[in-house]
Amino acid sequence: MRQQLHETVSSLDHLNDSLADQVRERTQQLRTVVARLMQAQEEERRRVARDLHDETAQGLTALGVILDAVALDAMEDRDRALKGLRGVREEVRRLVAETRRLAYALRPSVLDDAGLVPALRWCAEAYLEPKGVHVTLDAPHPELRFPEPVEVALFRIGQEAMSNIAKHAQASHAWLSLESEGGWVMLTVRDDGVGFDASQMAGEDGPLQGRGLGLAGMKERVDLLGGRLHVSSLPGKGTTVTAYVPAGRWEEEKE
Ligand SMILES: Nc1ncnc2c1ncn2[C@@H]1O[C@H](COP(=O)(O)OP(=O)(O)OP(=O)(O)O)[C@@H](O)[C@H]1O
Ligand SMILES: [Mg+2]
Repeated sequence: MRQQLHETVSSLDHLNDSLADQVRERTQQLRTVVARLMQAQEEERRRVARDLHDETAQGLTALGVILDAVALDAMEDRDRALKGLRGVREEVRRLVAETRRLAYALRPSVLDDAGLVPALRWCAEAYLEPKGVHVTLDAPHPELRFPEPVEVALFRIGQEAMSNIAKHAQASHAWLSLESEGGWVMLTVRDDGVGFDASQMAGEDGPLQGRGLGLAGMKERVDLLGGRLHVSSLPGKGTTVTAYVPAGRWEEEKE
């Protein structure tokens, strides 16, 4: 009896130890994820701060200098002052557009108002067309809406994939497609650019470790939704990014 009790207590001790190990391991994983999120947030803030400083603040400083010159001219040379004011008007217009672009890139209202397909189309117009990349968007049902986490994740993945095409691919054509079937939704972004060796970083189940945070962030997003990310690329052969996620409950856009 005593022997039995002893064995039970010892196996409970063992179970306790292994549970404690599991909790420690999970806590460590959670800390790693939180640290990566904080790093990504800091990186995002750095980009916003840099854009605000380089674009908005420097533009406003330049405007101040022009206005000082206009004030001097106003007393001496009316024509020159008028010409200066037209320059001010132009610069204000540029800064307003630039500030809108910054705000829109943080969170485009079209995503909330019109959904994923119009938001992806906006992104292609903003990121790829100015680079001379011809875009083909194939979405048989652009009116479909998905739960917000799905729309946000797929939009951010598409945005990063397009930003990568603009930054790295030197592509002449990009193809975007959004399909949904059987409770899943699939976003594909493909380009005919220079490509890269994706096998070095894109293990389907392993961590995606690139030089930047972009591809790793895409993987984190699909993992959180219980989906899959596939990046296929070879030097000279273009790049294809496919995100496949459960669509959750979706509904047609209501008027
Ligand atoms: N469409 C593409 N065409 C060519 N190379 C690409 C493409 N997408 C990614 N790459 C390569 O993969 C690398 C990793 O991409 P990732 O998005 O993770 O980082 P990044 O774009 O360099 O930096 P970040 O996204 O943090 O600004 C890139 O530096 C680039 O070499
Ligand atoms: Mg990137």
